[in-house]
Amino acid sequence: MSPFRVIVGVLCIGLVVIIGLLAGYQRTEVVQRGYRGLGMNQIYRPSYFEKEDVINKFPKPLGPAKTDGPTAAEAYENVHVLGDLSKAQFARTMLSIKAWVAPDVGCNFCHAAPIYNSDEKYTKRVARRMIAMTRHINTDWTQHVGKTGVTCYTCHRGQPVPAKVWFEATERDDGLMQRRTLQRPPTPAAADTALPADSLTEYLLHDDPIRVDGTTPLQSGNRNSVQHARQTYTLMMVMSESLGVNCDFCHNMRAWASWEISTPQRVTAWYGIRMVRDLNNTVMEPLKSELPPERLGPGGDVPKIYCATCHQGSNKPLYGQPMLKYYPELVRPASAPVNPDGTVPNLPPDPPEAGPPSLNDWGGGTDVQKTAATEAPAVPSTPPPTASLSAAAAATARVNH
Ligand code: HEC
Ligand code: HEC
Ligand code: HEC
Ligand code: HEC
Repeated sequence: MSPFRVIVGVLCIGLVVIIGLLAGYQRTEVVQRGYRGLGMNQIYRPSYFEKEDVINKFPKPLGPAKTDGPTAAEAYENVHVLGDLSKAQFARTMLSIKAWVAPDVGCNFCHAAPIYNSDEKYTKRVARRMIAMTRHINTDWTQHVGKTGVTCYTCHRGQPVPAKVWFEATERDDGLMQRRTLQRPPTPAAADTALPADSLTEYLLHDDPIRVDGTTPLQSGNRNSVQHARQTYTLMMVMSESLGVNCDFCHNMRAWASWEISTPQRVTAWYGIRMVRDLNNTVMEPLKSELPPERLGPGGDVPKIYCATCHQGSNKPLYGQPMLKYYPELVRPASAPVNPDGTVPNLPPDPPEAGPPSLNDWGGGTDVQKTAATEAPAVPSTPPPTASLSAAAAATARVNH
């Protein structure tokens, strides 16, 4: 072969490779979120938001309803959660629920019109607890959801079943061979990595300490093992993916554990973890007796909530559109019962005795994603307990497995 042909051949291959690389290229942008340096850059792809813009459209809110006249409890026979609303507010809420959860089937997804007072359909019984849950989130978990709040649409997005739920890992996910090798096949519950598949059970159902750093030297009671480290990283990746952000949306990579140099969003996330645990334990677990078998996971457990159930890939669900401004019906008045079945839900933890310095001193940057909210995001006034670093280490009674 002549040298000329070889050169042309090599050039052609080079061109194909370059075109291939260009085709796979996606533009990225960087937002500086803190002091300059290595630790605080959000990197994102504008193309990602085209998809997100579609998911985050909220149906046009109905006009406000009159608050006078007889209450729903007076007007109807079998209303237990929304009894405090006026008849007009109640009708508005039913119409909205239909649009948020069952636009295709309509009222008969839960009722057998014209009979509305029967509780025969399981969907209606579940919906009653969901209404109570939504009010509980909006009333008791404002450290997380602020004044923005949630509606059924935040999770359901026009579907009877939310797109993002999780189940406990089964023996299969965990892998029979894994126990010996500690390697696992990638699963969605582990952000498609080979990290432990069951971190969500440990952290979003149980309350295992989310820790990597020990507070004491090894061999002297430090239980923050390699196992905890691996599980913590799994959870962190699941959280990042749920919100469509990098780690430094919440942390300064210089020191992961330090609250002093973390962003205010890490505090919001800290409350979010506690809120999710509460919802899974007080609302989802008891639904086991109500949900039909086809709704349960491979191991027979109930579908459970995590960050993506609401966030679905953006740092604020629905870009922070103010739900409570449009739907005051979904806040529980002080006079109303806490829960339909009389159980008292978990409330956010008490303010810590010693937290990090005022979060308002933090010099952080701009919001990465678009936000439709008119009000500034609420920064909780009570930071999480840094004091619990050592307390949590000491309290870890569970022997590492
Ligand atoms: C996703 C389930 C769901 C859908 C869809 C739904 N409802 Fe309801 N409905 C409920 C629940 C739950 C209650 C009971 C609320 C409570 O106990 O506070 C209820 C109660 C009612 C009642 C009171 C009945 C009585 O006498 O006790 C009426 C009337 C009603 N709904 C009408 C409607 C209409 C009209 C629609 C369609 C526009 C509709 N609902 C759509 C779940 C639903
Ligand atoms: C925080 C997220 C969240 C919110 C808010 C929420 N839901 Fe749900 N809902 C869920 C999850 C998770 C399930 C279980 C999904 C599954 O079976 O996979 C569920 C299931 C249901 C079901 C049973 C559907 C079926 O076909 O089995 C109904 C009905 C329902 N929700 C109604 C409502 C109504 C009405 C509201 C608003 C008042 C609401 N939900 C608010 C998360 C939510
Ligand atoms: C949405 C906010 C958020 C994002 C994004 C996030 N984290 Fe975290 N991270 C937290 C919170 C909150 C805690 C403390 C959890 C607790 O104590 O309950 C934490 C704890 C940790 C810890 C344990 C520190 C200790 O005390 O030992 C490490 C390590 C960590 N994160 C690493 C990461 C990594 C790596 C990423 C990216 C893959 C990441 N985080 C993404 C909020 C976040
Ligand atoms: C019930 C729905 C829901 C769930 C579940 C949920 N969040 Fe949120 N989250 C919200 C809402 C609503 C906001 C907006 C609050 C506001 O505007 O002040 C928010 C805001 C945040 C913010 C602040 C974002 C910003 O730009 O300031 C962070 C961080 C966050 N959530 C992390 C998490 C993490 C981590 C989890 C899972 C452990 C989680 N959330 C679970 C509803 C939820």
